[in-house]
This record gives sequence, C-alpha cells and structure tokens, in this order.
Amino acid sequence: MSERTIALVTGANKGIGYEIAAGLGALGWSIGVGARDEQRRDAAVEKLRAAGVEAFGVPLDVTDDASATAAARLIEERAGRLDVLVNNAAVTGGMPQEPTRVDPATIRTAVETNVIGVVRVTNAMLPLLRRSASPRIVNMSSTVGSLARQSGPAAEQTAGPVSAAYAPSKAFLNAVTLQYARELSGTNILINLGCPGYVATDLNGFRGVRTPAQGAAIAVELATLPDDGPTGQFFDDAGVVPW
Ligand SMILES: NC(=O)c1ccc[n+]([C@@H]2O[C@H](COP(=O)([O-])OP(=O)(O)OC[C@H]3O[C@@H](n4cnc5c(N)ncnc54)[C@H](OP(=O)(O)O)[C@@H]3O)[C@@H](O)[C@H]2O)c1
Repeated sequence: MSERTIALVTGANKGIGYEIAAGLGALGWSIGVGARDEQRRDAAVEKLRAAGVEAFGVPLDVTDDASATAAARLIEERAGRLDVLVNNAAVTGGMPQEPTRVDPATIRTAVETNVIGVVRVTNAMLPLLRRSASPRIVNMSSTVGSLARQSGPAAEQTAGPVSAAYAPSKAFLNAVTLQYARELSGTNILINLGCPGYVATDLNGFRGVRTPAQGAAIAVELATLPDDGPTGQFFDDAGVVPW
C-alpha cells in the first residue's frame, strides 16, 4: 500500500476540479485525475506533473456503471485503498431551465450526473475508502441548492437564475449526502458538501467572479478535516450554508 494519501477527484481535467487536484497534490498527496475524455485527462495529468504533483489518470464517466467499477479497480491495483474522494463533476443539463419551459430531459441529465453520478462513484469507491485510516468524502454542491436561499427575503440576492434542473439537482445532492452521513455515522468516514462560490468556469460561460483556485479552497479544507471534524454538513468559505 502507498504511504502517500490517495485522493480521487472527479471532473478534474478543468475548472475547479483541476484546481482541487492541484491543491491536494501540493500537500504531497497522490492524485487520481478522474476524467471521461482521454486527451483532456492526459493533458491535465501532464500539467499537474509539471507542477510537481504525483498525478495519475483515472478514466471515469460518472454516468456509467462500468466506468465507475473500472476506476475503482484501477485505484485498488495502484494504491490498495482510497483516502479521499472529491465528487466534483457536474453539468447544468442544458437550457432553458425555467420550470415552465424546461425539457424533462434537461432535468434528467442534471440529476443523472450531479446526483446519481455521485452515488454511483461513491458506492464504487466505498470499499477502498473503508480501508483508509481517515476517509473523507467531499461533494461539490452549490448555494443555489440551498432551499433557504431560494426562498425568503434574501432570495433576490442569493438564489441565482430560476432553475428546474441544476439548482434542484444540488438540493437533491445535499439531501442524499445527509442520508450518507446518517448511514455512515459511527464509522470513521466524514462526508460533507462544499460550495466554491461563483467561479469563472465553462459551467457558467466564465461569468463567475472567483478564480478556480479560490473555488477549490473549500474542497481542500473539507478533504483535510481532522478525525473529530464535522460530517453531514454544508459549507462555503464563509462557514455553514443553511439547507
Ligand atoms: N463554477 C461555479 O460558479 C460553481 C458554483 C457552485 C458550484 N459549482 C460546482 O463546482 C463543481 C465544478 O464545477 P466547474 O465550475 O469547475 O465546472 P466545469 O468547468 O464545467 O467542469 C466540470 C467538470 O465535470 C466534468 N464532467 C461533467 N460530466 C461528467 C461525466 N459524466 N463524467 C465525468 N466528468 C464529467 C467535466 O468534464 P468534461 O471536460 O469532459 O466536460 C469537467 O471536468 C461542480 O460540481 C459545480 O456544480 C460551480
């Protein structure tokens, strides 16, 4: 078994996921770069290695059962266990997203990747995480998935665009993560949600105001929680995000 801490980041070829891989790699960890496209994956691994990170490519489409199973096998053969899983990969699902105009397929796409994809990858990796001394799971969510922020007086400032797909998919992810925390309470696995803030990436046509490295910071923090750290909670850089 490897001496280094082993982490897998999904959707690590670009955006916030790439910077999470870089941030965890800077700690001296060995980083599995989960990505579905071979060329984009190889390019990210090469760039991380050039920056001094021990990175390795993990072919992974989070919507595909066989892909998740193969990814777990690859990590088992390479490292024998997994210490940290960051479920970062996500899609908006497409436009329009207003409930009165949305194509049901748009909702299905968002849920398939952003919720079921997280469940699929988490469950494929759980046997390897259970072999770790301090397993951590970080699910990248968004404050647009906070029902508290979608309603009430503050909603105009914090709710983001009206959405029947992406925002509800993150609310669903939050709810599912809470259920994992309930089931895994009593184990040494800590599972939490992080919101990166509004970050300039492909996801929003680079309209975000933060850098991907700034967005990655919350994931690095949640990936490095001490053994007595929180579980089943939702954080951004400012602290706890209300459900
Ligand atoms: N940007 C923001 O302002 C913001 C705000 C709140 C939360 N977030 C969350 O932060 C996380 C990262 O977002 P981002 O802004 O960095 O987005 P991004 O630049 O669009 O990157 C998304 C990543 O997910 C990957 N991905 C999508 N579908 C996949 C699949 N089926 N299998 C494997 N990988 C897949 C993409 O791979 P390809 O290159 O192959 O498409 C890409 O690597 C997401 O969970 C997002 O919801 C972002």
